Amino acid sequence: MPKTTVQYVCQSCGASFRQWMGRCSTCQEWDSLQEESILPKAFDLKGLSKATHSIPVRFPDLSHEEVDRHPSGWFELDRVLGGGIVPGSLVLIGGEPGIGKSTLLLQVAETYTGKGHSVLYVSAEESLSQLKQRGKRLGVSSKELFFWAEGDLSRLEMIIEELSPGLILVDSIQMVYHPELESSPGSLIQVRGCSIRLMEIAKKSSIPIFLVGHVTKEGSLAGPKILEHLVDTVLYFEGEKALHYRILRTIKNRFGTVDEVGIFRMGEEGLEEVENPSELFLEEKPPGMSGSVIVSSLEGTRPLFLEVQALVCETKNSFPNRRSSGIDLNRLSLILAVLEKRARVGVDRADVFVNVAGGMKINEPAIDLGLAMAIASAAYGKAIEDGVVWIGEIGLGGEIRYVQGLERRITEARNLGFKRCMIPYHPKKNISLDGIELCPIRTLQEGLERVFP
Ligand code: TYD
Ligand code: MG
Repeated sequence: MPKTTVQYVCQSCGASFRQWMGRCSTCQEWDSLQEESILPKAFDLKGLSKATHSIPVRFPDLSHEEVDRHPSGWFELDRVLGGGIVPGSLVLIGGEPGIGKSTLLLQVAETYTGKGHSVLYVSAEESLSQLKQRGKRLGVSSKELFFWAEGDLSRLEMIIEELSPGLILVDSIQMVYHPELESSPGSLIQVRGCSIRLMEIAKKSSIPIFLVGHVTKEGSLAGPKILEHLVDTVLYFEGEKALHYRILRTIKNRFGTVDEVGIFRMGEEGLEEVENPSELFLEEKPPGMSGSVIVSSLEGTRPLFLEVQALVCETKNSFPNRRSSGIDLNRLSLILAVLEKRARVGVDRADVFVNVAGGMKINEPAIDLGLAMAIASAAYGKAIEDGVVWIGEIGLGGEIRYVQGLERRITEARNLGFKRCMIPYHPKKNISLDGIELCPIRTLQEGLERVFP
């Protein structure tokens, strides 16, 4: 057994200390320090990097290999991975319990075996009979898919050596443990130590490894954020459990761009890919309803079209109520202030509720204009014409600012059959496109005057 000493690790931010304290001096969380043993040398990440470069190399002498990629059989997964599964990569798939991570992995395992690779599914959480039951429901039948329902990493290493699979799925990293680490499964020390080991295995053997990581209520991966630095790619699987679709989002990717999204629908027989998500998100938009506007959100390289809804009513309290689902509350406050001050839409004594239909979360300034129009439409009780997309960021002066990827958004809007796009005015850029009418606008006031003369 290697010699270890103890340290105190904050379970909230991952900072470590020599002494116990009642409050973490890094993240200020109370009572979050837990005693853990210090990582033995064999699990130290520094050892990993030393092994590969012994002397510094001049830039022209650096060699570069094109990243090899294998299609997973799932277009939406390949998209978020940057074009397919990269050999030797370590991918973390985070998400709340019950969102569908195991379902996704099992289905990916089945299709990946269909591409001529064997797959090892390590289930440290569910028993073999539970896996069988789920597999039957999902139509899994491959003979090249192997299951192992234990969590001891030292034994897993032997199995990997023997089996040499084409892909390893570890469900979940919080339940895997290494007996040399004197800490319980799920503790920071185990999660970090096992991930480092798995990283070594992936790099040495060129076998890609997917880790499932449960996300705690606060939204951080338990075994906080430390895993994100370590792995090559971080994907989050999210969505409202009550609704049927799920979004797989790239948070970090050493082999591709971030903020890509893959969209799936969860049905009775597992997940299926959604080819045209905007149609799905807009299929329930009621025609002629006040407070409902279509906006465009650029998710990675793909523009999505979503319905933003607003409800405005006179407040009964001393402080008006502002609630938002899917849009940042700070953004909403800013838009309300600009509406009040610059465009004279009286919202300061009103309760305002906004919602992105379908449960999608948007974090993009290009939806500002649409959001402001939805609120104004709700405040006036007058609907805004259907078939129109509103694109533009709003500045504090009420001016409509240019947004990135405008051409791409407009082209996609036309392809989806929208008849008109309200876009930011730009003195030097004069965009036009056959098949869709473009209306450049300069200020929020101008936008409001067009619809509510
Ligand atoms: P699961 O993959 O176990 O979630 P996680 O691994 O992220 O904890 O998915 C669990 C949920 O998915 C469960 O509530 C049932 C639902 N589900 C379906 O709706 N259809 C299906 O075909 C399957 C397998 C699960
Ligand atoms: Mg699971």
